[in-house]
Amino acid sequence: MEYSEIMKRKDAILERPVRPIPPDKLADEHRRYAERCKRSIEIFEKAKGLIPGGVEHNLSQNKPFPLAMDRAKGCRVWDVDGNEYIDYLMCGAPIMLGHGYEPLDEKIIGIIREKGPATGLTSEYELLAAEEIIRHMPGVEMVRFLQSGTEADMAALRIARAFTGKLKIIKIGGSYHGWSDQVVYSVHIPRTGNFESKGIPPECYAHTVDVAPNDFEALEAAFRDNQDKGGVAGVMVEPIGGESGAHPVHPEWNRTIRTLCDRYEALMIFDEVVTGFRLDMGGAQKLYNITPDLTVLGKIITHGYPSSGAVAGRRDVMKVCAGSMGEKIFVGGTLAANPISMAACFYALKYMEETDAVARATAYANRLTRALNDLYATRPDLGFFVYNFGAILHYMTTAFFSVDLNAPDALTQIFSRKQVADDYQVVTMAHGLCTLAGTRMYTCMQHDDEALKKTLEVWEYLLSLIPRG
Ligand SMILES: Cc1ncc(COP(=O)(O)O)c(C=O)c1O
Repeated sequence: MEYSEIMKRKDAILERPVRPIPPDKLADEHRRYAERCKRSIEIFEKAKGLIPGGVEHNLSQNKPFPLAMDRAKGCRVWDVDGNEYIDYLMCGAPIMLGHGYEPLDEKIIGIIREKGPATGLTSEYELLAAEEIIRHMPGVEMVRFLQSGTEADMAALRIARAFTGKLKIIKIGGSYHGWSDQVVYSVHIPRTGNFESKGIPPECYAHTVDVAPNDFEALEAAFRDNQDKGGVAGVMVEPIGGESGAHPVHPEWNRTIRTLCDRYEALMIFDEVVTGFRLDMGGAQKLYNITPDLTVLGKIITHGYPSSGAVAGRRDVMKVCAGSMGEKIFVGGTLAANPISMAACFYALKYMEETDAVARATAYANRLTRALNDLYATRPDLGFFVYNFGAILHYMTTAFFSVDLNAPDALTQIFSRKQVADDYQVVTMAHGLCTLAGTRMYTCMQHDDEALKKTLEVWEYLLSLIPRG
């Protein structure tokens, strides 16, 4: 779906009141969900006393309780009560070959048995993994492996400042670049500033310049106005838009950033933690033919095996990680580039290429997008729609991400719209679909006709719960 069409349809959803499930029907769904997930609830009740909030991350649905998973295979996951789900969470994006892909698992099990998990020294797999990434990604000549996307984003900022000698980092509102101090700013929803997290001194944001997505004028002004305030070292970008495309970008957005980075001698940093090896084996940079100076990777590069993160890019830029004492920047980690992660990276990328995993996951995502939009078209009163960037789908039901913060009732709108989206997700979960936060779906090469059929049945049922209006 074209950018202009997505924006038009989002606006149309925002102009309508939300369409909740009637309370009696919703209560039935909650009962059903709780009935079939007794063990998950038990685990959650205990976990709350030991782990703050009872979970470590907010990837899926935590309300009214998070599901505890038992196992995963192909495009399916099973919870601890034995319920089966078609999985569209895919671990939050890393899984392209399908869960438990045996050739990959066999390699890793063999390495653990024969070689042990880690020595703290380098291994041949590190070289193989780096070669594999460099072979695919046009903007990558050197790679530094780290342990998460968050760490790799932090490293990219430091490299950009060290290389350019400049101070400011432009961050696009709504995008997520991990949870480190400088970039937990205007996360999820543009212009929300430091709303997301306490515990960060304002000084940490002092050099983060927040620009709203697709605001071309503000973008240029951010470069211009910061020239005598230390200058712009880099622009950090999710190439398909913030939150993996939940805030899609104008077709000229990335190219304009590239042009301005060149004009003002700043680095363009593509955060390809989700898009790298999911949108294309060469990432968004290859698909859209825009070469960033730095690329941040994570998630898919180890295909679900820990630990997954890398900063990569132009040779001259990356070399600041290896300068002589007093000139180099310090990034690294004890378990970074351990043999298991590196072997997982090498073999995962190799198998993804051999099996044409990206094309297969994309073909399914295209079919699912078409089929869901056909289904939603039977309920024009709702205005729901879905769009996809390859194997990344966004379905829009209440569009809470896109509420305009300038509106006087913005916060009320966001919370009420989010609540209704959460309620819809209780229904999809209770009937066997696992998605990301009720707004996003990732596909893998093993999603099949049966998964598609089941997905449509669940959605048809959900639509039947919402009164026609
Ligand atoms: C675009 C993007 N960058 C960075 C990260 C952070 O990665 P990690 O969770 O491995 O720290 C994420 C995580 O979702 C992400 O989506």
